Amino acid sequence: MAEYDLVVIGGGPGGYVASIRAAQLGLKVACVEGRGALGGTCLNVGCIPSKALLTSSAKFAELSHLAGHGISVDGVWLDVSGMMGRKEKIVADLTKGIEFLFKKNGVEYVQGWGSIPAAGTVSVKTEDGDLSLSAKNILVATGSEPTPLPGVVTDEVDVLSSTGALSLEEVPKRMVVIGAGVIGLELGQVWSRLGAQVTVVEYLDRILPGMDGEIAKLSQRALSKRGLKFSLGRKVLGVEKGEDGLTLALERVGKDKKEELVADKVLVAIGRRPVINGLGLEALGVNVNGRGFIEVDENFQTSVAGVYAIGDCIPGPMLAHKAEEDGVACVETLAGEHGHVDYNTVPGVVYTDPEVASVGLPEEALKESGVDYIVGKFSFMANSRARSIGETDGMVKVLADPSGKILGAHIVGAHGGDLIAELVLAMVKGATVEEVARTCHAHPAMGEAVKEACLDALNRAIHA
Ligand code: FAD
Ligand code: NAI
Repeated sequence: MAEYDLVVIGGGPGGYVASIRAAQLGLKVACVEGRGALGGTCLNVGCIPSKALLTSSAKFAELSHLAGHGISVDGVWLDVSGMMGRKEKIVADLTKGIEFLFKKNGVEYVQGWGSIPAAGTVSVKTEDGDLSLSAKNILVATGSEPTPLPGVVTDEVDVLSSTGALSLEEVPKRMVVIGAGVIGLELGQVWSRLGAQVTVVEYLDRILPGMDGEIAKLSQRALSKRGLKFSLGRKVLGVEKGEDGLTLALERVGKDKKEELVADKVLVAIGRRPVINGLGLEALGVNVNGRGFIEVDENFQTSVAGVYAIGDCIPGPMLAHKAEEDGVACVETLAGEHGHVDYNTVPGVVYTDPEVASVGLPEEALKESGVDYIVGKFSFMANSRARSIGETDGMVKVLADPSGKILGAHIVGAHGGDLIAELVLAMVKGATVEEVARTCHAHPAMGEAVKEACLDALNRAIHA
């Protein structure tokens, strides 16, 4: 039986990054992955293909908005299969790239589905039969999968999960997206930009729950302006197939009022759930919470000594960079170093147009906790770079304690996902709004809106 210091089950951003870091630290590592490609949800059916399609669809949409620049474009055709081909090539190149990184770092890639018959042993079902690996430590990084909507069958033909919505062969005429969260908005906007009439149905009376409410409202307004329709406060009772496509039965939440919507494709995007089936965790005695997430301590150890878990299959934000941070912290601790993740400074970005970016607490949480805080806001309308590139929707909002220490930052606007990095670093290093405001920012740049929002928190914005 092959013997390892660490066997990682799952080759997503949590598992593959943990494997490489552990190998760098001198551990003998194997990474077990069943899907036939490394990179997990993120590279295969998540972050990367969705961002590839967001970029292609943005370029297509931009062509019909160039008149304001004095440019007219005739004869534009959409080649959906060409767009999908580009996406698939990016995915294939990146997943192969991880295989190369494994070879370079001496991580053994074991292809097959893993389970844990006992602490210290991982069994792998491979195409050539069963394998047994002996492991001083086992790291579960098995990720997550789409949560199905009870009573609605996701067939990936008419009713899609995010995976199906990333691979449509043609643009549907009418698409209904169930769930106004990150996936619903990103993939809804992809198909809307390509010509589908997209309606987003959401149970709550707002989009992007958990994000700052004022920022979410601005995002909704901007997305509506760009063509997405919203039907908030609606419960989906069922989806029926008929001659005119799919009919969704809806109920107004809290009101005894029924409605119907018709669609050619329905995308179910109501969240994701951890993947733990088939690992043998129950027999092993690993504690799992009521929602199926594996419980871990501050060192990512489960209730069974020598068995660890990270990423989407443990509680916390379901984000690729969070999974990576978990993985690095976990194996650094295993190797005798000090690993730690500050979940309060994990940024979240929604890659729609305009982007939505967030770190730390939303204003609602500060109000609820009753603490004193100051707030600074700056609209992109007053930023000269935003004016010159024609991206004036949105604003930067900074929340700080009365001493100026930043507690949360929220951006809706073009390049928000890049701009948030400055405020994440400020939070990590304990910089105040005054210190960010006194940092020289290039002109003309979107980043000047970050500086001005920090000045506004001190009641000294120049351009507001
Ligand atoms: P995963 O990436 O899910 O990887 C787990 C791996 O384990 C999988 O490859 C699976 O096949 C394998 N596995 C499971 N069970 C076993 C087993 N028993 N044996 C062997 N292998 C097993 N996050 C961002 O930060 N930014 C984004 O822009 C972003 N966009 C997204 C877009 C979409 C459409 C989706 C669906 C998700 C997106 N996410 C994004 C979320 C991100 O993909 C996840 O948070 C991230 O992939 C989690 O990493 P992970 O390693 O924990 O799990
Ligand atoms: P989500 O949790 O972001 O949003 C789900 C939405 O569906 C919520 O608004 C919720 O209120 C709503 N909802 C739940 N049940 C419903 C029902 N029965 N009817 C109508 N609405 C309902 O989940 P989503 O969008 O599926 O994404 C899953 C995860 O993937 C997220 O946690 C996110 O972190 C990650 N992700 C991250 C991305 C990024 O970082 N850019 C991109 C895509 C996904």
